[in-house]
Order: sequence, then structure tokens, then C-alpha cells
Amino acid sequence: MLRFIEITFLSENYEQACRLRNEILRQPLDLDLLEEDLSAEVDYLHFGIVEGSRVIACVLAVPVSDVKVKIRQMAVSADFQNRGVGKTLLSNSETSLKQRGFQFLELDARTSAVGFYQKLGYQKVGEEFLSVSIPHQKMRKSLTE
Ligand SMILES: CC(C)(COP(=O)(O)OP(=O)(O)OC[C@H]1O[C@@H](n2cnc3c(N)ncnc32)[C@H](O)[C@@H]1OP(=O)(O)O)[C@@H](O)C(=O)NCCC(=O)NCCS
Repeated sequence: MLRFIEITFLSENYEQACRLRNEILRQPLDLDLLEEDLSAEVDYLHFGIVEGSRVIACVLAVPVSDVKVKIRQMAVSADFQNRGVGKTLLSNSETSLKQRGFQFLELDARTSAVGFYQKLGYQKVGEEFLSVSIPHQKMRKSLTE
């Protein structure tokens, strides 16, 4: 059974989520998340989906102001992609963020994932740009409507 969870910084689930982020987002670019300084992540909100005790999807929410967060590093394990897990994770995360008083979400989507975010109500802002050598698109969503 799949379950939405909030992940505590430096917990066992956090360690699993870091490994998943590294595998899905960093290693394909020949980068290593585990060599990065992640100490600022103590101030972020961390959400995930677990199957039993295994973290199969995760996402970060970085508070930008009292009402705005930036969604970062959304990753679904390869064996669970395209099965509705990403959608469940992001919509549950949005509900949790709204309950905390956040009203506006922004993110830098990889261009390859823009369609996923559009299905969840995010809108493109501005032009594509390069980040970590791959094309990205700024997107945003309001939780107030
Ligand atoms: C992109 C990602 C987060 C989507 O999560 P997922 O669990 O695979 O997606 P879901 O199965 O929940 O898809 C929800 C809907 O979005 C669509 N969708 C999924 N990935 C998509 C993509 N890359 N482009 C366009 N549409 C996509 C699905 O077809 C589905 O549509 P439906 O509701 O009409 O059936 C996941 O595939 C992933 O981790 N990819 C690799 C890393 C990555 O690109 N992360 C995002 C960085 S910005």
C-alpha cells in the first residue's frame, strides 16, 4: 500500500529520499548529490510516498516567504513512474502546504516534465532557460483559487 508522508530532516526516510534524488536526478547528469552541502535542507519541508518502509517518491518545498514556496527535486523511482505516484505526491504536498498557510507555488521544471506539472494546474512563466546544462521552464500555481 502506498502512503503519503512528511519526511523529517536526517531521518532514515530522509536518507532514503536523498539516495532516490541522487539516483533519479543527479547521477544521470554525472553529478553526486551526496557530495553537496545539504545542511540548508533543515529549513525545507520534505514530503514522500512510501510503499511499506521504502521511499519510492519524494519532493522538497523551500519556503521563499510566508506565503510562497519553491518546489524542488521531485523524483519518482523508475519502477513507479507513470503510475500516478507523482500526481499523488504533489497533490498531497500542496494540501499540506496550503494547511500551513502557503498560497503560491513556483518551480523550475525540466522541459521534459512540463506536461506533468501542467496536468496539475501549473502554468508556464517566461521563456525556457538552461540549468545544470538542461532546459528548464519556470512555472507557478496559486492555491487561492
Ligand atoms: C516527472 C515525474 C516526477 C512524474 O511522476 P510520475 O509518477 O511518473 O507521473 P504520474 O504517473 O503521476 O503522471 C500524472 C500525469 O502526468 C503525465 N505525465 C507524467 N510524466 C510526464 C511527463 N514527463 N511529461 C508529460 N506528462 C507526464 C501522466 O501521463 C499522467 O497523466 P494522466 O493524469 O492524464 O494519466 C517522474 O516521472 C520522474 O521522477 N521523472 C524523472 C525525474 C524528473 O524529471 N523529475 C522532475 C524534475 S522537474
